[in-house]
Amino acid sequence: MIVFEHVHKAFGPKVVLDDFSLEIPDGKTTVLLGFSGSGKSVALKHIVGLMEPDQGRVIVDGMVVGDLSREALAVLRGTIGYVFQFAALLDSMTVAENIGLGLQSRLLEPGEIGERIRESLALVDLAGSEEHYPAELSGGMRKRVGIARAIALRPRYILYDEPTTGLDPVTSAVMDALMLRARDELGVTSVVVTHDLRSAFQIGDRIAMLYQGRVQQAGTADEIRHTADPIVRSFVEGRPDRMHVISAGRT
Ligand SMILES: Nc1ncnc2c1ncn2[C@@H]1O[C@H](COP(=O)(O)OP(=O)(O)OP(=O)(O)O)[C@@H](O)[C@H]1O
Ligand SMILES: [Mg+2]
Repeated sequence: MIVFEHVHKAFGPKVVLDDFSLEIPDGKTTVLLGFSGSGKSVALKHIVGLMEPDQGRVIVDGMVVGDLSREALAVLRGTIGYVFQFAALLDSMTVAENIGLGLQSRLLEPGEIGERIRESLALVDLAGSEEHYPAELSGGMRKRVGIARAIALRPRYILYDEPTTGLDPVTSAVMDALMLRARDELGVTSVVVTHDLRSAFQIGDRIAMLYQGRVQQAGTADEIRHTADPIVRSFVEGRPDRMHVISAGRT
């Protein structure tokens, strides 16, 4: 389980997370919604210790991430797959080499690495694309390679940062199906950051909306869809015009 406890994070005068608390249950998909700049990516980076809270703590499997030694943090990161907002593949390496990068440090036999690469490419419906270079792939394919790279590590957790942003509706639906498959076939606990509501409702067992540094509301897809919270409602209804009225009245 991943737990954010009263996390506060600021960059200079800019407060991004302000008493942010959230529990992410095992074996489920938790979606983090919010406007651009609301701190979704910053929250994800805290889970793998790429950022540390100014106050509060982030706990993964009972361990406080900020208290871990360098070695313990490396072990923890080995259990967490991270699908970056921008696919972050190395252009000079083939698809197979990109996926194999994280596996080499696992002391796997070369044959085993090849097998893992094949398996994870098959899971994202890209079987046989080992020898392609990222430049030869479409944006959606690159995103799927990013997922394959995360899955290849057989992680307990996968963090997806904007997996469907910029994709056409059909490719987005394919990504949704992949994320559901990772949950159902591999039992992965996922955190998905998105502003794609269609995707959020499709895959989210739990949905939390981040607003002004904290969780405005967390609940099931149905609870969020039928929310009485004015901020969440205007987000869900795609009416940011009303949001400014509401924010102005909030101190
Ligand atoms: N390393 C950093 N140094 C300074 N400011 C940062 C840093 N990382 C993030 N920020 C700031 O924190 C805020 C939240 O950023 P974050 O990337 O988490 O937003 P987001 O919710 O992921 O937005 P988007 O939906 O556009 O990806 C932004 O104002 C951003 O400028
Ligand atoms: Mg982001």
